[in-house]
Formats: sequence, structure tokens, C-alpha cells
Amino acid sequence: MKLKIIAAILLFASWSCVNKKTAIVESSSKLGNDLVIEQKVDSVLKLMTIDEKIGQLNQLTGNGEVTGPVSFANEYQEAIRRGEVGSMLNVNGASYTYKVQKIAVEESRLGIPLIFGYDVIHGYKTIFPIPLGDAASWDLESIEKSARIAAIEASAAGQHWTFAPMVDIARDPRWGRVMEGAGEDPYYGSQVAIARVKGFQGNSLADPNTIVACAKHFVAYGAAMGGRDYNTVDISDRTLHEVYLPPFKAAVDAGVGTFMSSFNELNGIPVTGNKGMVKEILKEKWHFNGFIVSDWGSIREMLVHGIATNEYESAELAMNAGIDMDMEGHIYINQLKKLLADGKITEKQIDDAVRRILRIKFMLGLFDDPYRYCDTAREKELLLNPRHLEIAREVSRKSMVLLKNNNVLPFSKNVKSIAVIGPLADNQDDIIGTWSARGEGKDAISVLTGIKQKVPTARINYAKGCEITDESKVGFAKAIAAAKNADVVLVVVGEAAMMSGEALSRAFLDLPGVQKDLVLEINKLNKPMVVVLMNGHPLTIEWMDKSVPAILEAWLPGTMGGPAVADILFGDYNPSGKLPITFPRNVGQIPLFYYHKNTGRPRVEAERYTSKYIDSPNTPLYPFGYGLSYTTFEYSNFNISANEIGMKDTLKVWVDITNTGKYDGEEVVQLYIRDLDGSVTRPVKELKAFKKVFIKSGEKVKTEFTLTANDLAFYTRTMEFKAEPGDFKVFVGGNSHDLQELSFRLK
Ligand code: BGC
Repeated sequence: MKLKIIAAILLFASWSCVNKKTAIVESSSKLGNDLVIEQKVDSVLKLMTIDEKIGQLNQLTGNGEVTGPVSFANEYQEAIRRGEVGSMLNVNGASYTYKVQKIAVEESRLGIPLIFGYDVIHGYKTIFPIPLGDAASWDLESIEKSARIAAIEASAAGQHWTFAPMVDIARDPRWGRVMEGAGEDPYYGSQVAIARVKGFQGNSLADPNTIVACAKHFVAYGAAMGGRDYNTVDISDRTLHEVYLPPFKAAVDAGVGTFMSSFNELNGIPVTGNKGMVKEILKEKWHFNGFIVSDWGSIREMLVHGIATNEYESAELAMNAGIDMDMEGHIYINQLKKLLADGKITEKQIDDAVRRILRIKFMLGLFDDPYRYCDTAREKELLLNPRHLEIAREVSRKSMVLLKNNNVLPFSKNVKSIAVIGPLADNQDDIIGTWSARGEGKDAISVLTGIKQKVPTARINYAKGCEITDESKVGFAKAIAAAKNADVVLVVVGEAAMMSGEALSRAFLDLPGVQKDLVLEINKLNKPMVVVLMNGHPLTIEWMDKSVPAILEAWLPGTMGGPAVADILFGDYNPSGKLPITFPRNVGQIPLFYYHKNTGRPRVEAERYTSKYIDSPNTPLYPFGYGLSYTTFEYSNFNISANEIGMKDTLKVWVDITNTGKYDGEEVVQLYIRDLDGSVTRPVKELKAFKKVFIKSGEKVKTEFTLTANDLAFYTRTMEFKAEPGDFKVFVGGNSHDLQELSFRLK
């Protein structure tokens, strides 16, 4: 008892001697550079026993959603009292987190506050489109805003930390987690990573409405063979550096506070035990000063991978690799002390990990007020706040991509009757998608309701037609009758929420069940018809593109998905989204992405011995960067400032875009380059810049881009990141396929 009091006094002295204002860190990118915080961290560290230090590295799960096996979840209160827990995940709500925090602060010897983490992936209670859809807006402000609102709601509900953004590049649409990221491109993925980190973390982690972000899953998890979740990753060092690492580096530069290591092995070594990746690249080369949490049980899984024979060895591997916190694995808490006694790890290593965790806790202001995130009044006011719902609607309509439109859309608001058909038309549960935190279907607005609100005087003929996955066609007759008796027809089809996400990879990317037949039957009526797609994986819908007159990709659009779809269908918003990932024609083409190499025998239709399939084109159904608008854009006056530039020069690139259609609209102007003669082969196109511009009907805007040698740099034959002299192409256009090109030389 005495000890506890002395410790408390010491702690009080060390924490309160510092003026609160100076404890506020202006920018989260100052991780580790704030001397005041560093002194405080040291003062706490000095008071800690080795058991308490190891306790800080231990993360346990509460009774909320779990994503893996839970061991002794009900005993966590005792463990917290004993100072054996540094963090909890899946503990939700202002009053519940308050209770749990109180145990840590008032009943453990040192009273070190817990950090609560949760998967706040695309909203907390107000759910935004799935991250892949959110990224399809190509609107970084909008992307930042959705993360900001997610943070405002989550922090009001007691959360300090989100396990997001997922910045894994995903080039295989079969992979279940493709819905959680920003698609296939390292440049665009990096821009989205920055926007999301900024959104979650705001200007300062000291603000109680910000939460610390987590760049995950480090690294190359998206390169799982065959798109099968958790599968082996075997890629070249060059691909790793060029494609998979850049968004993580961008997150570090944006000041992200934490990282999560991935489940996968990378070229033979599970990343959770991979010193070369975690310690040497992330901590030493990139100077990342936040902390790294393992993925759920991934330290233990090194036994299953076959790289450790017992828990002791897996703990040794993870600690020596630089993993600071063990997520629900119970390995560090059981093994680190023994490893220390045996000299397999040092106390310095443990101190470094503890220091990183305490640093983030100080930055969040938890030592000043451990309950600052547990405010039930704030929680009540902010969750599903009308302003948040309005923003969710805006973000949602910006995420949608018009894939085809043969003069069907927008529908007139004077339409007399409309048929609304399909298993996702009156659906509230699936449209919020997977990883939807505390979001609930009951709060979501379906497409059917959205349409009713938009055109209250129109007659609506609703028929489900079929279920998402069932084989029964008994509902077809009713759906056909509904369509026959309507002026225009809307069919909402796609995937259930639980068909994408973790452990939800697909071997086929068709519309599940009998939905394809439903679409084709309705289409036979030759009505003005639009298919609204809701899905987390890109789908193989060549048949649909060939048959139906209009297709809108709405992803899994979140709480306000219904009104957002209605805004687009009836012309209150002109679609402006572009695909952040290629849509293949068929599964056999996968992997298929725009950023590919030329080969020595690029495809020539009439020549047999060229790189092609005998039963499929090489081209995708819809390329990366593709998306239509209700208006049309014409590109002209494409020009560059020089035909030759030096290593220190800049190249200006200009192009004018004219809105030649009837509607005001936004265009995503994309700039790609190609290096024609590198010391290693280079992709046929690489996105280097983009701008989303609003152009009134009939008006023209001039756009300007600037390229430097750094934009032309890559990992050369000797793995140096630099530009090489030679010939280049620069392309501009509205997607990665339809581009104009010019040439220049780098001296
Ligand atoms: C997932 C992570 C997630 C964690 C906690 C794991 O299974 O891979 O992305 O953050 O669970 O829920």
C-alpha cells in the first residue's frame, strides 16, 4: 500500500510539473521530437518494474466483436489490476471505456491509463462507403473528411486509436480485403493514406476529438498468392519497394502514430518476425517513433507458419524484429521475462517498446485526463449527428462511379412510375458493408427509401426478385411484372456485406446467386433501365456491360447510401468517381492492373507469338481511373515546357479541359509517365499526378502539373532510388487507357 502511495506521489510530481499547454503536441508528425513528452515518458519508465513494462506491451480484447480466438477474455479486469495490460481492443462506448479505464487508473499500482483501440475503418456509427469506394472519389478532401468524422464519433465513444487506414496495395480483386484499401496504385494509394491519417489524427493528437491512426498491414499483405487471404507472399525486393512500401512511407511522413504488422510471410519470413522489415526499414531507416502492434495473434501464428517451435521462440522473433505490442496473443506477457533472464532480449529493447507506447499515451493527453474520451453527453450528441449524416451522403455520392450510360440517366423527376427491383434495393444491413464498427443497418437508408424520398409523387413498383445468394427464381415473375408497369427500371444487385473483407476472398467474381438471370430477364423488356451495383470486390460483368443500358457502381455505400444513389439517378449530383482499381473481364486475366510491364512481345492481335490469351482480350473491362459523367470533357492544348530537361529542372505540363456537355461536372485529370529505357524495365504507365476539377457546362479550365526528376525516379538496377537520363513519355487523360501523349528527354 505504502509503495503505491509513494509511486502515486512520484507520478503526480512528474506528470503535473509540466504545464498542460506545453504537453500539447502541435503536429503528430513530431513523434518523438517533443522533449517535454520524452521527459515525461522517461519519468514514468523509471518507476516501472519489469513486469509492469511487459504489461504495457500486452493488448487484450474486450467482449465486443472479435476477429480471432479469444482466450481468457473475461479475466481481463484482473489482469488490468495487476498492471499486465497496456491496451484493450473491442471495448466500446463512453461509459464502458470509463469503467475499464477506472480499473487501470485507480486499481493498478502505477495507474497508467489504457489505450483503447478499435477497427474504425469507414465510420464509427455513421458509416461511410467502404474504403475502396471512398477512394473512388479521387477527392482527397472528401476522403480526409470521412476519416475526420469517423474520428469525431469514435473519440466521443471512448476510442483513442483506430486500426486504420489499411494502406495495402491490392492488385488482386479476389482478395477479400480489397474493399478496405485504396486500390492498386502506389502513388494514389499514398495520397489516400496521407488523407486518411490526417483525417483520423487531425491537427493534434492532443485534441480530444482525434484518434491515433494505424498504418496496416505492414507489409505486402495485399500480394497474397491467388488473392486468398493470409496466403504466402513471394515478391521481388524491387516490387516490394516500388509498389507495396510507398503508402506506408507516406503514412510515416504524414505522422501516423502506429503501425500493425501483417499476418503474411514475406519471401519466407512472417513479417511479425521480420527484423529486416520492421526494425531495419520501419524503425531505423524511416525513423518511425510510434509503436507497432502485431496483428491478432500473429506472434503466436509464427508457430503455425513453421518458423518457431514454441511460444518462447515466437516471442523472441517478434521482439527482436521490433514488434512493440502483442495483440491478443498472450505471448509477450508469458515469455518476455524468461527471454530477458536468458539473455535472448535486453531490457533496453523492452524499454524502447514501452517508451513508444507511453509516448502515444502522453500525446493523446491520457496522463492529463484518462477519461477525456469518455463523455457520454458528447457521445450522445455526436453519434449519427445530422451534420455527419449529411457529410456521409456527400462522401457517398462522390464515391460512385458511372460505368455505362446510354442516354438513360439522369432520370427525370417527373417520371410517373419507377420499378425498383433487386435483393439490395430495400436493404439496410448489407449496404453498410463489412468492418462497419458500431454502425447498424437500422440507421441506414435503403435505395428504395432514398428513391421514395426523392420522387414522392411517382408510383414505385418494388419487387425483390431474388435473394443475393439463393438459387430460387420464384420472385422473378413479380419483378418482371413490376418492371413492365413502370416507365423506368432500377435494378440493385451485388454482393452481401459479408462477401468481402477479412477471410472473405472469392474465387469467382460473378454476381452471386441468380442475380445475373434476374438482370437479363428484366433487360429483355427493353425499358430505360439502370443497374446499381453494390459490391466490395470488383466484379466480372462483361455480360452486363454488353447488355444493359446503364450501370452505376455504388460500392457498399454506407448509412446514407440510398439517398446518395437517388441524388445521382435523378441528376442532383453529377457522378464524378473514377475506379481506383481495374475491373477485369474475367477471373482468368487476374492479376490485371494498369501499371504492368511491356514484355518483349507485347500483344499483337494478328501475331501468334505475342503475349496474349487465345480466349480473352488482354484489356480490362474498365481500366484504372475510369468513370463517366453526365457531361463530356474534351482535352486540348496538351503541351510541355521543354523537350529536354536536366536533373535539377522542372517540367511543366499543361492541358485544357472543356466541358462539352449539358451538365456542370467534375473531371479527374490524370497524368502518367513512362520511362522508355531504364536500367531495369519500367511499367508502361505510372500515375504521377492528378487533379479533380469542377467545370461548368460549356466552360474550359486550364490545368498545370509540374514534374521533377524525383517524379521520374525508381529503384535502379543497383536498387538506388533515382532518376536515370533517357527518353520519357508523359500522358494526360481521364483514365489510364484513353490518353494523349508527348515525349521528352531527361539529361
Ligand atoms: C485484422 C486486423 C484488425 C484486427 C483487430 C485482425 O484479424 O487483420 O486488420 O485490425 O483483427 O480486429
